[in-house]
Order: sequence, then C-alpha cells, then structure tokens
Amino acid sequence: MKIAVIGGDGTGPEVVAEGLKVLKIVAEKVGFEYTTQDFNVSGDRYLAAGGDPNAASIPVISDEEIAELATFDAIYLGAVGHPDVAPGILEKGLLLKARFELDQYINLRPVTLYPGVETPLAGKTSDDIDFVVVRENTEGLYTGMGGVQYKGTPNEVATQIMCNTRQGVERAIRYAMDLCMRRDDKKQITLVGKTNVLTYAHDLWFRAFMEIGEEYPELTKDYNHVDACCMWFVKNPEYYDTIVVCNMFGDIITDLGAMIQGGMGVAAGGNINPSGVSMFEPIGGSAPKYTGQNVINPIAAIASLAMLLRETGNNTGDAKLVDAGNRVEQAIRSVTPQMKSQSAGRMGFSTSEVGDLIAKTVADAE
Ligand code: IPM
Ligand code: MN
Repeated sequence: MKIAVIGGDGTGPEVVAEGLKVLKIVAEKVGFEYTTQDFNVSGDRYLAAGGDPNAASIPVISDEEIAELATFDAIYLGAVGHPDVAPGILEKGLLLKARFELDQYINLRPVTLYPGVETPLAGKTSDDIDFVVVRENTEGLYTGMGGVQYKGTPNEVATQIMCNTRQGVERAIRYAMDLCMRRDDKKQITLVGKTNVLTYAHDLWFRAFMEIGEEYPELTKDYNHVDACCMWFVKNPEYYDTIVVCNMFGDIITDLGAMIQGGMGVAAGGNINPSGVSMFEPIGGSAPKYTGQNVINPIAAIASLAMLLRETGNNTGDAKLVDAGNRVEQAIRSVTPQMKSQSAGRMGFSTSEVGDLIAKTVADAE
C-alpha cells in the first residue's frame, strides 16, 4: 500500500505522526507492507512561495501534485488552515480541490461515542451514539456556481446555486444504502434534507432515494428534515443508523455530530472515491494555538487511519488491511477510558503518550 501523507498546518503534522506510529505497529502485527511519501502542502508553503494572504494568488496544491496524489492508494491528511491566511484560500485551494479533482464523492463521517468519552448529552452512552453520516461531497452548494452582479452597490445581487445531478445524488444514495446493508445495526437509512423548502433540489433527492430504495427491500427507508434532524441528534441520537445527506447540510450536521461524540479531538472522516484514491482526515482544524505543545488529541487522526485501512481494504478486497483497521479501532476503544478528557491539554496524557498507548495496545493484542 502506498500512502501519501499531507501533515499540513498547525497541529496537523503532530497528530499524523501518531497515526503513522500506530500504522507501523499494526503493519508488523498483521503483516502487510506499505510505503509513505510526504507532500509538503500547507499554508506555510503557500506563504513562503509568495502567496497573497488575502486572496488566492498561486495554487495551494498544483495540478501536477494532484495528478501525483491520484497514483497513491490513499491520502492521509492532518489539517490545513493558517492564522495568517484569509479563510477560504487553503480550504478551497487544497481540501475542496482534492475532493473535486479526485472525485471523492462521499464524505464518510461516523458519529461514534467511544467508551469512557464524555458526551454533553446527559444520560447517553456508547450504546446510544453510534451512527454514520454519508455526506455527498462534490455537489450541492459547493460547486461554486452562481455569481454576483452590481457588486458593492446598493443593488448588489449574489447567488450561489445548489447544484444537484441525478447521477451525483444517485451514487451517494447507493453508497449509503450499501453501507447500511453492511452495518450491524437496524438497517435503517435516513435521508436528511429540506423537501418542504427546496422543492426542486431536494425533491430530486427524495425521488431518487425512494426509487433506489426499492432495490433494497431489507432497509427501512426514513426521511427527516434537517432542522428536525438537529433536534433528534440531541434528543434521541440512538434513533439513527445510517444517514445520507447533501453536501452543505452534511457539513453542518457533522459538526453537531462531532460534539455529541465527544468533540473535535475524536471525530474522524474520509473523503471517499470508491474507485479511486480516498483522503482521510480528522474533522478538526489545525489548532494553531496548540501547535508544538504535544497537547492536542490524536485520537481523531488515529481513528482516521483506522478508516483509511478499513476502507482501502474493503475496496481492494485486502482482508489484512480491514483486520488492521479493526485492530486500531479496538485499541482506541480500550485507551479512551484511560483518558481524563478528550480536550487538548486535559487528556491526562500528552499527544505522543496517547499514540504510544494505542500503539502498545495494538502490539499487545492477541
Ligand atoms: C469540512 C470543512 C470544509 C467543508 C471547509 C473547510 C471547506 O468544514 O470538512 O467539514 O465545508 O467541507
Ligand atoms: Mn465542516
């Protein structure tokens, strides 16, 4: 397996280093070969190359680099985001560019409360918070379609088009339904949208969902408006099994999901192209104020590595990689109860100690 590594900015490289530490141990344990190659893509590089901090002036990642990334089996990303670079430049220049160019049309975000992790939801346990969000990742409000007229005048008009294609919607729904079939849960798939207002865009989603759903008679098909979904996340998270959702709503509900599973320190995600190269990343940002202090939580990055192993294994039919991913996940589950908190600086361990503990647990497992 060939892995491209983008540590990125801030604490990104620190958490990725812990993931790679665990990767080395689990590869020895299970017996598979891999190589890693570092890609220096970051806000720092952008600025050092003369990039304008206030407007995208040069590529954050070049087309050549994207083409090179496409030759790997998976990409492992830390974080991008720099305090001196205006919001949007690095996000658009790297994250969104990779998602679009590499056609990573699924953003897979499990919402899992690991054992011993504190949730702000009173009375809820690991049994209650265990579902997965399948976010469409290349369409919706993210395509950049739209425009502005009469800019800077009182008559200014700005539009941002929510672009949904039948093909794009369909592949996301199919992915989610296939995933729901594989999950050891109640076989319930919930479409989250806003059909009462988005009467074109989400009507397309709804019809596609119902039509494709007929091919999956074992699944219970369910629909929630996105606002109600936010309410249920807090009130009855145990209700959910698999959610499929458009890009923007998926972005929003997965931040809420991250909070109920114990915060950004534990939330992992994967940008997935099931027939191409996928990119795995902790959902949290670059946390510049914690950079270099060895206090940030690496669990999200290590859980992203577990996803990388499992998803790559599932795609290539390599059972060893799936086994390795499961082992890393098991190790996380046995280490979280030993931690005081999942917040940076309050874990009772340093970043590298958490990585060491998980690596040791993997090494010592049967
Ligand atoms: C995410 C982020 C990105 C998104 C931003 C940084 C462009 O919030 O991965 O959830 O909106 O998708
Ligand atoms: Mn987001």
